[in-house]
Amino acid sequence: MSSQLDVAIVLAAGEGTRMKSQTPKVLHPIAGKTIIAHVLDQVKELKAKEVRVVVGHARELVEPEVKAVAPVATTVFQSERNGTGHAVQLALADLKATGTVLILAGDTPLLRSETLAEFIAAHAESKNLVSVLTSQVPDPSGYGRIVRDETNAIVAIVEERDASEEIKLIDEINTGVYLFDIAALRESVAKLKTDNSQGELYLTDVIADLKANSGKAAAILSYDYTETLGINDRSQLAECAAIMRDRINDQHMKAGVTIIDPTTTWIDSTVKIESDVTIHPATALFGTTTVATQATIGPRTTLNNVIVGMGASVIESNCTDSEIGSESKVGPYTFLRAGTKLAAKSKAGAYVEIKNSTVGEGSKVPHLSYVGDATIGSGTNIGAATVFVNYDGVEKHRTEIGNEVRIGSDTMLVAPVTVGDGAYTAAGSIITENVPAGAIGVARAKQRNILGWVLRKRSGTKSAEAAAKAGATEEQGS
Ligand code: UD1
Ligand code: MG
Repeated sequence: MSSQLDVAIVLAAGEGTRMKSQTPKVLHPIAGKTIIAHVLDQVKELKAKEVRVVVGHARELVEPEVKAVAPVATTVFQSERNGTGHAVQLALADLKATGTVLILAGDTPLLRSETLAEFIAAHAESKNLVSVLTSQVPDPSGYGRIVRDETNAIVAIVEERDASEEIKLIDEINTGVYLFDIAALRESVAKLKTDNSQGELYLTDVIADLKANSGKAAAILSYDYTETLGINDRSQLAECAAIMRDRINDQHMKAGVTIIDPTTTWIDSTVKIESDVTIHPATALFGTTTVATQATIGPRTTLNNVIVGMGASVIESNCTDSEIGSESKVGPYTFLRAGTKLAAKSKAGAYVEIKNSTVGEGSKVPHLSYVGDATIGSGTNIGAATVFVNYDGVEKHRTEIGNEVRIGSDTMLVAPVTVGDGAYTAAGSIITENVPAGAIGVARAKQRNILGWVLRKRSGTKSAEAAAKAGATEEQGS
């Protein structure tokens, strides 16, 4: 990609007042990354010799994010927000470089590096001192408008708040992306004045100045206006997130992933999915999640940092920081918490919660169980409504279950406890002691039947009536 770029400056000092948020605007997330991370990731692709980011509001939060995403970038501190022109003055103050600088805002996360590269190439060819990237939008309100003369050349950029009714009708807007000759920009920003409705130094006024004094200014219209949308409020945040979602889903579909309903499928830009995966409606895949081929996810499933193996299926479930082995089955209504590892061909069925546990190959936890802090071997079955009692009220303890074990329904496994290979537990047992290999652990009171009890103690009820019909009598067992 282009190597014609000497410097890139990202403006990110603003508070984003219109977001009405404790979080600085550029740190709001879209598709698993902050707004500024999206911008910096695209800028990185351009391989500028130097990247500067102007920070100000909530610098202590924005600066670490910039360092994490783009370690090569340096930050410039704008202590008072006196406008985009002021921010650029500060960014240029100790800049040694000459040549071309790209300036863009930290709040336009949909811009693609390919579009920026084309803009850079067009600017280089034109030999102008400034080019501004523009777009034609359905609703231009809030943006600076591009004023052109009778020859269609740009004359000025007029901010919405300073615009006449006539200018407000213009639907070509300033995207906030510019290329400047550094020396010309330096000279022009020094002359900026605050004679506008906001009393700020507008970077946009540099365009009119350079046009008037050199004639070497151009407005270059971009093809896809959605790329240039800026985020100033929560509605625009949602609008941009939806566009990003569609873009990400499109890429996956082009790569062979079936997405039944792309409008309700939210996939972070960091997620990896192989071809021939099927994703059902209302599903969200977040963070470092990876899904191997032939797997089926959803409907109504959320996976956060989950590794899904080949051919696995996850239905109506919520899983975090877990591994789901190939051909395993999860759901419906299953909750896999951090540290869950399901080996191949295993099962975590309906209404099952598992955390910090390993379930061996082919083992099953089919119904209504809680598994916490356990290691389960292979080929084992955990009966319905089993609870791994891992918490004694103060500390957590582990349970070890061997291979080919049969845990009876409604067993309480009071940890720390071990059940050996091939062992059984009787249904309804409260297992507090280890069960050796091949043994059955029975830990429940022996059943006794008190004959005639219902007829004596519940006479006149429908039960007593039914019992009498079946031949039971009051005298039985008394
Ligand atoms: C700006 C442009 C407008 C354009 C729009 C595109 C100006 C005067 N207006 O308006 O023509 O259509 O972007 O999205 O430039 N910032 C600083 N320091 C400041 C002020 C702003 O770093 O003192 C940063 C902000 O953090 C933001 C960017 O500059 O990332 C743009 O500022 P913002 O307040 O969003 O300007 P807009 O009103 O959107
Ligand atoms: Mg803006």
